Amino acid sequence: MSKQAILKLDDKEYTFDTIEGVENEKAVDFRTLRSVSGYISYDEGYGNTGSCQSEITYIDGEVGILRYRGIPIDQLAEKSDFIDSAYLIIYGELPSEEQRISFSKELIKNTNIDTRMIRQFESFPAGAHPMSILTSMMGSLSSYYPELSTNDRALDLENFDRSAASAISKVMTVAALSHRISHGLPVNYPKKGFGFAENFLHLMFSNPHDEYHAPKEVAEALDLILLLHADHEQNCSTSTVRMVASSGANLFASITAGICALWGPLHGGANMAVIKMLEEIHAEGDDGSRFIEQAKSGTSGKRLMGFGHRVYKNFDPRAKIIGQACERLFAVLGVDDPCLDIARNLEQAALKDDYFISRNLYPNVDFYSGIMMRAIGIPLDMFTVMFAIGRMSGWVANWHEVATQPKGKINRPRQIYQGPALRDYVPMDQRG
Ligand code: ACO
Repeated sequence: MSKQAILKLDDKEYTFDTIEGVENEKAVDFRTLRSVSGYISYDEGYGNTGSCQSEITYIDGEVGILRYRGIPIDQLAEKSDFIDSAYLIIYGELPSEEQRISFSKELIKNTNIDTRMIRQFESFPAGAHPMSILTSMMGSLSSYYPELSTNDRALDLENFDRSAASAISKVMTVAALSHRISHGLPVNYPKKGFGFAENFLHLMFSNPHDEYHAPKEVAEALDLILLLHADHEQNCSTSTVRMVASSGANLFASITAGICALWGPLHGGANMAVIKMLEEIHAEGDDGSRFIEQAKSGTSGKRLMGFGHRVYKNFDPRAKIIGQACERLFAVLGVDDPCLDIARNLEQAALKDDYFISRNLYPNVDFYSGIMMRAIGIPLDMFTVMFAIGRMSGWVANWHEVATQPKGKINRPRQIYQGPALRDYVPMDQRG
């Protein structure tokens, strides 16, 4: 029998079961709290709330662990690739050779978008933000592929393999076209025979009579960035996807909500903030040492962007992997980016500094991912879009987990009302 928790309220005692995860995470099961006591639990921001039991991703931020379906992220980064890991995240196991071939075929088959969507793309004003275009276009997938988004759960699950492949492939195509359209560039079409990252880079950078075939190292670097962003447990966007899915909404509707949540600067926008910070430091002729002092002062309003994490209080395992990959990529490309030197200085200084050590502030994945994307040629306003392409497999897996729950319940938190108490309506002529 599991341990029990006893809560004393108004001289009465209530007993609650506890739940333990496979990695010994412990929770008190308060689902009956309101019905037995009249109280609800208050946890603004959900920092202390387990919103679900999930089998997809495990994080232990105290010791810097991230695993997809039990497999450590460093093993996946070294031995797997984005498609292999996406399959693992969605279907729970690494694909056999046959499964890998059939998954890849499904992805390629669904890379193209309905040609009528091109007209919709062209209706966006020049300069529209790629994230705004991405949210609209992904939301409109239900209009073009109604058979994959019926909101009849049994039917949507029957078509899951196709809708999952569509979400992963089409977000890549739509993302690249968002960039082309927002910069007034002619549209490219996906190419058969190109890998996932290669295809994206072709869609982004090919021009009429000048097809872009990314160097192997560049395509591999992008693939790694996507793999490292593929899932991250119950973050803001993934929780949003699960929230929307819990209402019975189809996959395309649910992932679109996730993309909207990702757009916020506190979630998917930090990688841009790192580049802006590095450029500012460079423009001021600083090597990073002046900035470090300002970030520590607490009064400058500056923070060392790309440092610190709500969950990781030891190190972000993705940051180690991406930091090393960044060094390799720069060596191969022979790129000389002063921002990389500044980033190295900042990292070395912060890791020795008491202010950062005592607050458990270590580099997070965004510290180097922005520098790497810039070296690949991805424009700054596309950084959050790149995050969305990577995170799609995690969103899809989480939608599926919600959709296949035997007794799925709509997510509906409660609140503590603090507005005006009961009062009467005042007619217009009597209002002061
Ligand atoms: N630079 C300088 N000081 C910092 C930083 C930083 N990057 N991050 C936290 N601190 C300080 C705070 O000022 C605070 O100091 P105090 O105790 O003297 O008041 C202490 O460390 C704790 O900070 P909190 O904001 O309470 O930590 P929290 O866990 O809430 O925030 C967050 C985490 C938002 C990531 C924060 O560290 C931050 O703003 N980092 C920079 C932005 C960033 O890189 N975000 C990307 C996160 S990763 C991702 O989303 C994929």
